[in-house]
Amino acid sequence: MRTTNADVIVLGNGAIGSAVAWRCAQRGLAVTVLDPDPARGAWHTAAGMLAPVTELHYAESALLRLNLDSLTRYPAFAAELTELTGLPTGLQECGTVSIAWDGADLAALRDLHAFGRSLGLPGELLTGRELHALEPALTPGLPGGLLAAGDHQVDPRLLHAALVAAGERARVRAVAAAGSVVLSGDRVTGVRLPDGTQLSAAHVVLAAGAWSGTVDGLPESTRPGVRPVKGQTLRLRLPGPPRLAHVVRGSIKGVPIYVLPRTDGTYVVGASAEEVGFDQSPRAGAVYELLRDAQSLMPELGEAVLAEISTGLRPGSPDNAPSIGPSAITGLIHATGHYRNGILLTPVTADAVADLISTGQLPDGLAAFTPDRFRVSA
Ligand code: GLY
Repeated sequence: MRTTNADVIVLGNGAIGSAVAWRCAQRGLAVTVLDPDPARGAWHTAAGMLAPVTELHYAESALLRLNLDSLTRYPAFAAELTELTGLPTGLQECGTVSIAWDGADLAALRDLHAFGRSLGLPGELLTGRELHALEPALTPGLPGGLLAAGDHQVDPRLLHAALVAAGERARVRAVAAAGSVVLSGDRVTGVRLPDGTQLSAAHVVLAAGAWSGTVDGLPESTRPGVRPVKGQTLRLRLPGPPRLAHVVRGSIKGVPIYVLPRTDGTYVVGASAEEVGFDQSPRAGAVYELLRDAQSLMPELGEAVLAEISTGLRPGSPDNAPSIGPSAITGLIHATGHYRNGILLTPVTADAVADLISTGQLPDGLAAFTPDRFRVSA
């Protein structure tokens, strides 16, 4: 049996895992990251909305603060990645418009706006006329909307490529395999690879997204309660410049939808939310609903090329907030359960885990998200 040493082993090379690995390596730690198939991760399907304000209704106030904190970090995070690697991240500080489809939606948007204002969040209600002037490609006659000028987008595929490249430059070692966690009593000592190679490390970071609860070697009682929540997105393409200036979202007859315009004429449309275990096959009904509603929202999308159907698994946690920090096993650190916010929360999660490993302290803002909140007392 061969043994190699690292300071940190990261299980999962998706957006969170690759960012954690890079940030730890930047602090001078020897990092190995394991993933049998990084492209199956949720980042590959994710649209990349950075949208704490327009997703406010999904968030508790502690999660909203964390989301806002991470959003604030994004410009410097993306700029640093591009400076180090020469690669783009697709960050567009374009703002987001939530549209109302009917009068009931408009009333709901007004409530959301009032709630946001009570929390000090920016947002501007738009009349139907103002909405049409702002986004003329949307279907005419919409009754109004809400402009969240601070909600942006990034391209998760570009972001991931830049994170992996930054990790390589910082000497992160990437291994294309799954690992089985090795314990000594209630302390982690490393990970065993399928070929028997033993990697030893004082810190193992669980960042395996929807698969975090299935990692081998963990006692049943210490597995994170992460469940897969399937999401489907479509990539549509129209020739010429983007017809939308903002990310657009809304719900059409009760079915949520969002459309993200990329600069190359791609429109990312999403997303379903399906609790069907680890099945990643695309479902015809979800594709139909996304195409129907995207075309209702922006009629020209009916002429677009359907370039891709993508399905991914969001890591849902029992309270749909992430699990970040030390676990019941000494040395085993969670960075998982980000559910709908994995891309948004990538910068703050990576910084927090790197802080924890290098200083022994988790930053204050993370106190509400430690894994011990899920522990059932005996
Ligand atoms: N954050 C968008 C989604 O999960 O669909």
